[in-house]
Formats: sequence, structure tokens, C-alpha cells
Amino acid sequence: MLINLRDICSIAEQGNMAIASINTPSLEAVRAALDAAEETGYPVIISHAEGHDPFAPLDYMGPTMVALAERSSALVCVHLDHCEHLSYMRRALEMGFTGAMYDGSFLPYEENVDNSLRASEMCSGFDCGLECELGSMGSREAGSRDEGGTAEESCAVYTDPDQAAEFMSQTNLDVLACSFGTVHGIYKGEPHLSFDTLAGIREKVNVPLVMHGGSGVSNEDYVKVINAGIRKINYYTYGVKYAGEAVGKLIADRRAVKSDAVVYWHDITTAAYEVLFSTFCDVIKVFSNGADPMK
Ligand code: 13P
Repeated sequence: MLINLRDICSIAEQGNMAIASINTPSLEAVRAALDAAEETGYPVIISHAEGHDPFAPLDYMGPTMVALAERSSALVCVHLDHCEHLSYMRRALEMGFTGAMYDGSFLPYEENVDNSLRASEMCSGFDCGLECELGSMGSREAGSRDEGGTAEESCAVYTDPDQAAEFMSQTNLDVLACSFGTVHGIYKGEPHLSFDTLAGIREKVNVPLVMHGGSGVSNEDYVKVINAGIRKINYYTYGVKYAGEAVGKLIADRRAVKSDAVVYWHDITTAAYEVLFSTFCDVIKVFSNGADPMK
């Protein structure tokens, strides 16, 4: 059942939990995320990033995500992630997306404000909540999967709580993505999150907060950020890393028994689906932070 970004985040607020916002640039990932939401009984956000368009075009993924979300028994928000072009956002809205992120975090502040306002005007004509970002993660979700490392290496700019309050008063967004130490991609060593920055933002900003670069973070830190007010956690890289490793192992195991063993495409997609499903079940449960399931 479709739900918009505002309403799904207010469920998270009431339950002191975070909703998993899972990038799903393949049919296996869409299935796994929806099945995991139904299995665990928690709402989920399935997300399409503009930067994934070259290998998962919106024209194919968007209508598939909306149709499967509509018929799911779980509450599902279909969300556009890291959109940098308003014309692209309009296409997603016309397909029935119920959440959208305008990402102007790489732009000068005033330009970010102007474009975020234009995005909010566009979303107001649809049943769609808007997320915007202030501060910068440094590495783009859109970029190569070799990005990542540490927040410093990625040239991340932590969100300034006072500027966040100003940003809120100048734009009309529903949820705010903020930067406080996570990065997109693979972490080099343990991520070091700035809980002081997060507490400062929470004090000044009264909308649900979003953590990007959410895979690869310890369960302990997930619980800490949720208790500090994070209501949406974006999750991608480590899920697809685990799926890739499972596929590699499947091929290696078969070839160890018989060097010319045939591995079919459906063997690969099945192995990937299974790992994605169990990974998504695990993170959805951790992000629920002990809230009762909705089934
Ligand atoms: P990771 O790719 O680090 O999991 O982050 C996902 C994300 O923030 C998508 O917007």
C-alpha cells in the first residue's frame, strides 16, 4: 500500500524508530525490500537514485516500483533519491512516486535554497513529501562504488545547526538530510559519527532527519542515531556488496566441483535475492528500535 514520505516518517517519529530507505536498482532488490517489509511487518521506503539511471532507467524501474508497492500488504513509500534535475523529478512524480529528494548539497547555499523551493512547489501538486539536503556527504551516491572511505577523505561538510534552522525557514521541505560523519560507499575503517552535530541539528530543526550513507554502520550506532532523532536511514552499498560476494561464491563453489560447470543467470539472480532479502530483514528490524511491528 502506497504511503507518502511525510506520513511514513511520522510513523517513525511516533515509534522512535527509523524507516529503512533502500535503493532498489534491480527487480531482485525491489522484491527483496518489499518481501522484507511484509515479513517483518514494518513500513519501508524503496528508493530510486537518479545516479543509478544508467544501469536502472527510471522509465523501467519507476512504474515497476509503484505497481509493486501499491499491491504490497506493507506500507511502502516509493522515493526518488539524490535528484539533481527538476525535470527528472517531474517524471518520477508523474509516475506516482510518493517521496522525492532534491539534492542541492553540492551547490552554493542560495542556489540550494532556490532549487529546493522549486522542488517543493512541484511536489505540492502531487501526494509526495520532499527531502532536501544541507551540508554535504562529499561522495555522491551517483558516483562510482569505489567512493567512500572516511568523511574527511570525501570532503564531507557537516550540517551546521544554525544554517539548518535558516534553511528550514526558507524552504518548504518535509524531511532534512544532514551530514554528520557518514559517507556513501564502502567505509575505510570504522565510521566516526558526530553525535554532537546531530544533537545540535535536532535542537534547531523540527522535521524528521535523514541519515545517508547508512550501510556499513554498526548496530550500536544505528540505535544511537535513531534515539537522537534520525527517522529515515538510507541503505545501499553493503547490501549489494553482500549480494555480489554471494554470487562470486556460488560461481566459485560450482566451478570447484566441475571446472566447466554452467551457471545460469537465474542462479545468479536467485542467490542475490536471497542475500538481499535476509540483509533487508535484518536492517529493518534493527531500525525498528524495538517498536511493535504493524502486522
Ligand atoms: P550507502 O550507499 O552508503 O549505503 O548509502 C546509501 C544512501 O545514502 C543513498 O542515498
